[in-house]
Amino acid sequence: MNTFVQYNPTKLFFGKGQISQLSQELDKLGSSVKVLVVYGGGSIKKNGVYDEVMNELNHAEAQVFELSGVEPNPRLSTVHKGVDICKEEKIDLLLAVGGGSVIDCTKAIAIGAKYDGDTWDLITRKAEIKDALPIGTVLTLAATGSEMNSTSVITNWDTKDKLGWSSPHVHPVFSILDPVYTFSVPRDQTVYGIVDSMSHALESYFHRTKNSPMIDGFIESLLRTAIQTGPKLLEDMQSFDLRETMMYLSTTAFNDTLLNGTDGGDWATHRIEHAVSALYDIPHGGGLAILFPNWLEHVLKEDPSRVKQLAVNVFGMDPSGKTDSELAKDGAKALRDFWNSLGAPSTLRDYGIDDCQFDSIVEKTFIKPGVGTYKELDPESVMDILRRSL
Ligand code: NZQ
Ligand code: ZN
Repeated sequence: MNTFVQYNPTKLFFGKGQISQLSQELDKLGSSVKVLVVYGGGSIKKNGVYDEVMNELNHAEAQVFELSGVEPNPRLSTVHKGVDICKEEKIDLLLAVGGGSVIDCTKAIAIGAKYDGDTWDLITRKAEIKDALPIGTVLTLAATGSEMNSTSVITNWDTKDKLGWSSPHVHPVFSILDPVYTFSVPRDQTVYGIVDSMSHALESYFHRTKNSPMIDGFIESLLRTAIQTGPKLLEDMQSFDLRETMMYLSTTAFNDTLLNGTDGGDWATHRIEHAVSALYDIPHGGGLAILFPNWLEHVLKEDPSRVKQLAVNVFGMDPSGKTDSELAKDGAKALRDFWNSLGAPSTLRDYGIDDCQFDSIVEKTFIKPGVGTYKELDPESVMDILRRSL
């Protein structure tokens, strides 16, 4: 293992009815606290989450401001709107109520509110992130892990760039996770959430650090749990137990727990997916379902060892009488088949994407240098993965 520091400052309130903790968290900030509630296209008004949040805010006698309409794949233009409100109204706390897009947008607003220039300067690292407004979250979709990490992904629709960034300043101060709030997540988004969580675990798994039985075992257990839970959840989308399992799983998959002591894993597929969705605005989990199995196939040509371990320890394949390479191929196929069985897309053409912008996708993948660590990719390799994904 490598040396590591474990510090995750997000206070997690997990389980049914935990929204009742919100007013107490607000009370800690003093009286008449000014809260900007950030949310998306209206799902929280349909499923009652908005009313429950507002009850708590009223109970705490907070001054409430609202920013609605955060897009899936949140856009810089919406971040700017939130920054303006924060500066005009002198907001004390940002409260994100929604999925990863709402939380990511809120994180960007939090840094923009403490900066005099354009927030994009901070996201592109032209300027250093030195401060941020505090953030609380009420999660409504189990997928990204944004509720308990310091990462955000923002799309600049003018330049067609989708950039991931992170800062310790945007770790949510608290996050409220009630599985009941995810009952209304539609089938397709539920599938994308399963794929995204599994991808975070899988990308963490592809590290080259020696002596990692604990972390490897955590990841394999998480993946087996997703494989057992996913299909049952799609049969019974109102099951508290199954929603609860997926909610805890998705948070754990990307809150640094799975990276302790390793080199951090290989996030090349995320880089390629962000480049695809920057141009085509497709759902993140859908893009990963298409790209990740093709990344696996690209990798196992040279080095089947880790994919073989996945096949045996996660998919329960019998290694006897098979070469590493055969087992690895079977493992990659098993993952693809599993995601397909949930109804996830398997080709870019499922989203109407052909090869006409592949050059641009490759270029955007390399917007930051260094793509991949377990297997460092060059532009030809990314092109190969895209062609396999057609
Ligand atoms: O806009 P609303 O009305 O809220 O509807 C949303 C949206 O249409 C809906 N939804 C959310 N909760 C719901 C619900 N519908 C019914 N009932 C509920 N309880 O679901 C749709 C998708 O929401 P979104 O927030 O976009 O999904 P997700 O959580 O998958 O977030 C995706 C974004 O996160 C980024 C992705 O790139 C993408 O932009 N990521 C963020 C990461 C992070 N911050 O750590 C890591 C990830 O790898 C990922 O890149
Ligand atoms: Zn992801």
